[in-house]
Amino acid sequence: MAAHDGSRPILTTESGAPVADNQNLETAGVGGPALLQDQHLFEKLARFNRERIPERVVHARGAGAYGTFTVTADVTPYTRAAFLSEVGKETEVFVRFSTVAGNLGAADAVRDPRGFAVKFYTEDGNYDLVGNNTPVFFIKDALKFPDFIHTQKRDPYTGSQEPDSVWDFWGLSPEATHQVTWLFGDRGIPASYRHMNGYGSHTFQWVNEDGEQFWVKYHFKTDQGIRNLTAEEAAELAGKDPDSHQRDLRQAIEAGRPPSWTVQVQLMPAADAAAYRFNPFDLTKVWPHADYPPIEIGRMTLNRNPDNVFAEVEQSAFSPAHFVPGIGPSPDKMLQGRLFAYADAHRYRVGINADQLPVNRPHAAEARTYGRDGALYDGRHGRDRNYEPNSFGGPAETGRPLSAPVAVSGTTGTHAAAVHAEDDDFVQAGSLYRLMDEGERARLVANLAGAISAVSRDDIAERAVANFRAADAEFGARLEKAVADRRAI
Ligand code: HEM
Repeated sequence: MAAHDGSRPILTTESGAPVADNQNLETAGVGGPALLQDQHLFEKLARFNRERIPERVVHARGAGAYGTFTVTADVTPYTRAAFLSEVGKETEVFVRFSTVAGNLGAADAVRDPRGFAVKFYTEDGNYDLVGNNTPVFFIKDALKFPDFIHTQKRDPYTGSQEPDSVWDFWGLSPEATHQVTWLFGDRGIPASYRHMNGYGSHTFQWVNEDGEQFWVKYHFKTDQGIRNLTAEEAAELAGKDPDSHQRDLRQAIEAGRPPSWTVQVQLMPAADAAAYRFNPFDLTKVWPHADYPPIEIGRMTLNRNPDNVFAEVEQSAFSPAHFVPGIGPSPDKMLQGRLFAYADAHRYRVGINADQLPVNRPHAAEARTYGRDGALYDGRHGRDRNYEPNSFGGPAETGRPLSAPVAVSGTTGTHAAAVHAEDDDFVQAGSLYRLMDEGERARLVANLAGAISAVSRDDIAERAVANFRAADAEFGARLEKAVADRRAI
């Protein structure tokens, strides 16, 4: 036990009492057992046992940074969102990038989509755009999400991700063919979070001052240029430096090289949706740029690292249901499920007061609700009335919905998504394959063959290959041969 020399603050317990000895626990005599009266020991050990909160059920592994979104084009004809109302207007953002399947300590350099979640701290409250680095997704109905993710995570028996489950599910879910073609192509393993694009992926609604509706898709184009890793480079990096993406982002910002993205939107007048050649609310499809050319609307720059990863990254909570006036959901069946799932996850993972934490609460607005209490409530509402309507001048509703009403028809029931003129599960996967040059095709086929040939049953491999054959005959034939060659070895 060293005497305090007055040069540093005094160490205390959590209740603020000075700590005399932080090196030796209390014992009954030298060499004797520990004493129950050692409050400092028990407080340290008990707090340590509770340091972790449940990791995210998906996207557990991630890194975040703060920055600014700046408007570069007049979009007031399309949306009344206040943060988009003027060229030059700046809004603070927090972005969390992630991988999907790996647990908290997993390596970054893996073949997996990357999460690209943006929280805009607007004057009308927080707007969360919780997207990925891919414009499409594996499935188109939220009901299938838990099953899909079970195939990506650890098997109940082996405790590892199992190729049989992965390819069984994809083979039986032909709508995944487009996203799987993308994932096993060159963009499937980004070199870093800075060298990839982001996409809102879903279709969202924009509504202007006059109530006119547009369907919108967001694209964040990296200003650093796209850079990817080959399967071999990734395997080496994942082993050498599991934190490669996280470190790269932090160090680029520390070194004064803030990464940025040019933000574009594709806009579809609402009246076009019914007759469009693809179902515009099908998350397994893109809107080809020839149909709806992307227009630039802004730039996002990330220039500040969080000071505390647990407080600001682990406890950050993004919800696709966090909209602001002028922006709303579309009837996309995946998005509709997500509108529920995220806030529910936050209540479980962080707690009912998750949105009051510094990283999650509005920064340019104030949350004024009648919601109260719950674990770790900080008493922010003081003596204010906790009910509404009230005659004490408490906050009151606006009478103006954030987004515009969407017309519906038909009967309730478990309907499959509407099929438009050119919709099937393979058409866009085939187009993507045919866009690739020979080198890209060869790497795609090799990556897929390597993965598919690891399954234990021929029927699973055959079903998986059949989906790529349906996308493009040459693609299918090459893949079939490559899988057969590997399985024969
Ligand atoms: C119905 C389908 C989906 C469901 C039910 C779902 C559910 C979830 C849940 C429960 C989390 C963890 C949230 C948390 O604990 O904070 C999560 C995280 C995430 N999801 Fe989804 N997800 C779905 C589809 C998607 C799609 C299509 C995308 C991208 C286009 C996406 C992007 C993300 C991202 C980026 C995160 C991490 C957010 C963060 O950084 O905190 N998810 N998802």
